[in-house]
Amino acid sequence: MAPKSSPLKAVSFLFLVLFFWTSAGLEEREGCYIKAIYSLGDSIADTGNLLREGVGGAFAPIAHLPYGETTFHRPTGRCSDGLLMIDYLASSLNLPFVNPYLDKEANFNHGVNFAVAGATALDHSFFKERGILMPYTNSSLNVQLDWLKTHLDSVCSSETDCTEKLNHALFLVGEIGGNDYNYAFFGGKSITEVISYVPHVVQSIINASKEVIDMGAVQLVIPGNFPIGCFPSYLTASRSSDPDAYDDRMCLKGLNAFAMLHNLKLQEAIQELRQSHPHVIIMYADYYHAFLHLLDNALDLGFAKNSLMKACCGSGSEYNFDASKMCGSPGASTCDNPAELISWDGIHLTQKAYMIMARELISGGFSYPSYGVLEKWKCYY
Ligand SMILES: *[C@@H]1O[C@H](CO)[C@@H](O)[C@H](O)[C@H]1NC(C)=O
Ligand SMILES: *[C@@H]1O[C@H](CO)[C@@H](O)[C@H](O)[C@H]1NC(C)=O
Repeated sequence: MAPKSSPLKAVSFLFLVLFFWTSAGLEEREGCYIKAIYSLGDSIADTGNLLREGVGGAFAPIAHLPYGETTFHRPTGRCSDGLLMIDYLASSLNLPFVNPYLDKEANFNHGVNFAVAGATALDHSFFKERGILMPYTNSSLNVQLDWLKTHLDSVCSSETDCTEKLNHALFLVGEIGGNDYNYAFFGGKSITEVISYVPHVVQSIINASKEVIDMGAVQLVIPGNFPIGCFPSYLTASRSSDPDAYDDRMCLKGLNAFAMLHNLKLQEAIQELRQSHPHVIIMYADYYHAFLHLLDNALDLGFAKNSLMKACCGSGSEYNFDASKMCGSPGASTCDNPAELISWDGIHLTQKAYMIMARELISGGFSYPSYGVLEKWKCYY
């Protein structure tokens, strides 16, 4: 089938673009400044942990095709048709894909992925107290941090050894927190109530960042939330007959304002964290504006005009999303060419969209401060 080759072309295109940044070929892996990636987070970065914990409910389909149909041609536990942003980041640093912690056979010489699809920033108890169901996993940030500690204890021969290792490691703290809000919104909580969770979620991300800094991390990337008001899942759940509920892009204004609120609070807290840890590089990855930039340039980027807000895989009318008949369940179907759509299953993006997001975040000015950082992280001869 001809369309199967296009994602690979997309991958090589990324390599080409990144070539100028990394200035190195594959044989020069030793020369890259960053030698390992450690990732905490949720389905945006999970490369196979939830699959190994055991998937159920709405996540059950990720264990089957069409998940993974592009590039891997099998399900890997990634919530997409193919590669994720973290895969492109690893490739751009000439590192192998970051293996999931729960794969006990895996090689962790170049880092570990602790992200779990469905994970929250806050612990199970927070949601239980508020009567919110959190049905997929209990592997919140604190659980992932415990895994990280256990891992470092097992691989470092001494504190000096650990410091040395972590000096050249990149830590991704998130994206995380999106699910804390998803579970609350889809559990019927009002936007006012969910706004009151923001300080808790932000604090837990900051607490986790402080912990990894205490463990020796000196390079962190902390991503914000996406403009969720442009996602088919939310567009379907919060469909409104009031034209005023939508912005010029036909995204839901209220939900995007909510995501911005989280992002602003997070950035304020990151700024404080930078001030108290001046020796640590702490970048903010602006998923929100990187996504809107992608959306605004979607036609030039090869996305199909009438499907910008439609899921590739799913069922239903306007947004091709139906919470009771999601991608992978009987009655759902998959679009012919995922590379022409932004949304994969209504909640997660396609490989093509993740590739473009990664490019924007790595070299397109949507991560900051970048001054001096990208120079430092370069690959040398
Ligand atoms: C999460 O923990 C609670 C309380 O310990 C338990 O009842 C629930 O089954 C757990 N959920 C998952 C998905 O493991
Ligand atoms: C963050 O850490 C502080 C200090 O250890 C603690 O009091 C607080 O409960 C933590 N907050 C969250 C949301 O984890």
